[in-house]
Amino acid sequence: VRVLNVHRATRIISIETDNSDPALIREAADILRAGGLVAFATETVYGLGADATNPEAVAKIYEAKGRPALNPLIVHAAGVEMAEACVVADLRVERRGDVASLASALAADYWPGPLTLVLPRSGMIPDIVTAGLPTVGVRVPRPLIARQLIAELGRPVAAPSANRSTGVSPTLAWHVLKDLDGRIDLILDSGQTDVGLESTVVDLTTREPRILRPGPVTAAMIERSLGGLRVHTAGHRESVSPEAPTSPGQLAVHYAPTTPTVRVETAGDLARFRWPDKAVLLVVGEHDLPPLPAGITRYVLKTPERAAHELYIVLRQCDWMDAHAIVVVPPPDRPEWAAIRDRLARAARPWEKDG
Ligand code: TXA
Ligand code: MG
Repeated sequence: VRVLNVHRATRIISIETDNSDPALIREAADILRAGGLVAFATETVYGLGADATNPEAVAKIYEAKGRPALNPLIVHAAGVEMAEACVVADLRVERRGDVASLASALAADYWPGPLTLVLPRSGMIPDIVTAGLPTVGVRVPRPLIARQLIAELGRPVAAPSANRSTGVSPTLAWHVLKDLDGRIDLILDSGQTDVGLESTVVDLTTREPRILRPGPVTAAMIERSLGGLRVHTAGHRESVSPEAPTSPGQLAVHYAPTTPTVRVETAGDLARFRWPDKAVLLVVGEHDLPPLPAGITRYVLKTPERAAHELYIVLRQCDWMDAHAIVVVPPPDRPEWAAIRDRLARAARPWEKDG
């Protein structure tokens, strides 16, 4: 493997979302081809990409992120054909009732887009990508730049979110720089990501399709695509054995700021909350707030779309305020808020009312 990054300095290339300069894409693809790491924007969050067919390159992802080796990576394809080469399922032919027919229906409806399909993996994908699992998570990202990059490489790109393991996902290039400067070769900076929340991960290898991580594509959207077939939601687990996570995105602590973060389930409870000297309040959804002590910085994210778009920027900003606590009021338990509630459940520990 060629050493690209002798000084371990991370370069940034600024690139327009409707990029018309193929030389920039070629440059980034050359780094991937040589076994290097390139961060790039998807529609969800920035991903940390490596050539998925190169085990040494993929190993560098785990090292750069400080990610446990047992947490599998999502593979990104330039289109359905490339995605198909990663799995053992024909995604273009409609056959009723089998895994492939479910996958092809979802691929037709949501690719390119924020939906990751977990399917049996093909021999093209090395063990290290899937942490030894017989399945692989695959998706076709929406931004043109991401698809051009993968197409230029000509191979699928393994890419987890481009943050340090268990931290907050990056929706801006400088989030990536803050977390991974000196650990990766290049960041393609194309501005803030569109959606702002990680893709929905759905496992199609079980008898009933299962949502392992709720995201922008909701359970109802998936059920509609599958002709009303029931989709099971794995639901948040408070603790998952680190030896055997079904999807380590399910780990209890994930997506978390470093400042102690508490979840106060209803706005009314804020009246009884014992505020530390310096606290930041993050209110998600429509809530009637009781009177609050003076001097508390307050963020309000009212709609699911805006909350998805801004959540990680706000969480990182709260984290940099040197507060003693970040206090989060989550949105109501309704389907349109499922993905946000899931991330907040992991980012924050519940407030012990009587503790
Ligand atoms: O939106 C996204 O999905 C972003 C962008 C970059 O594409 N990627 C992302 O990757 O969030 P990461 O690695 O941070 O999260 C991937 C999630 C993890 O929870 C992982 O456990 C799960 O997908 N996953 C990946 N492959 C899997 C598999 N074969 N079986 C079960 N879960 C899998
Ligand atoms: Mg992640």
